[in-house]
Amino acid sequence: MKNIVLFASGNGSNAEEIIRYFKNNNEGVVVAIFSNKADAKVLERAKNHNIPSVVFSKTQLNDGFVLEQLHQFQPDLIVLAGFLLKFPESILKVYPKVINIHPALLPKYGGKGMYGMNVHQAVLENKEKETGITIHYVNEHYDEGEFIFQNSVNIEDCNTAEEIAHKIHELEHQYFPEVIAGILTRNS
Ligand code: GAR
Repeated sequence: MKNIVLFASGNGSNAEEIIRYFKNNNEGVVVAIFSNKADAKVLERAKNHNIPSVVFSKTQLNDGFVLEQLHQFQPDLIVLAGFLLKFPESILKVYPKVINIHPALLPKYGGKGMYGMNVHQAVLENKEKETGITIHYVNEHYDEGEFIFQNSVNIEDCNTAEEIAHKIHELEHQYFPEVIAGILTRNS
């Protein structure tokens, strides 16, 4: 059984889907949730599932505190599920297996500032006919690591960024846990 550590900054609907999925899958288990927001809903979700959480500041992400905290959970895989800060190279050097989910079809709509609703707003303004999700390995550059999985959805019937976000969340919840399980199986 592999140890999964989740990083999330906000609502945590993806985190919750992953937690639920691995309650019924022996490949992995979610051992901790790390968040840079003390009032993030994801922390409430962690508590409801009796999963330990660690809250940290942006400074602590980079000064060794988070790395130190990670050691006690011995992560085999780190999953960024709605984590909105840049993941530090200093942690990647010690734990290179880190994946991220991005709410668009990278390389489109990626890079600094492109997260959450900003992405959907840009997709809407550009009158895209489709958008999607990208699950990728994390490297030292924003949204540029090797792709693992992509899936797209038609958004011609969407008139607001919120409607696009809803469709994207459905895709994420459908595929993200399975893709994580696939990674754990391949690397065992
Ligand atoms: C998700 O749509 C995820 O793809 C996105 O944040 C949302 C978090 O939702 N991540 C990024 O934009 C990273 N660049 P959630 O908190 O409900 O899981």
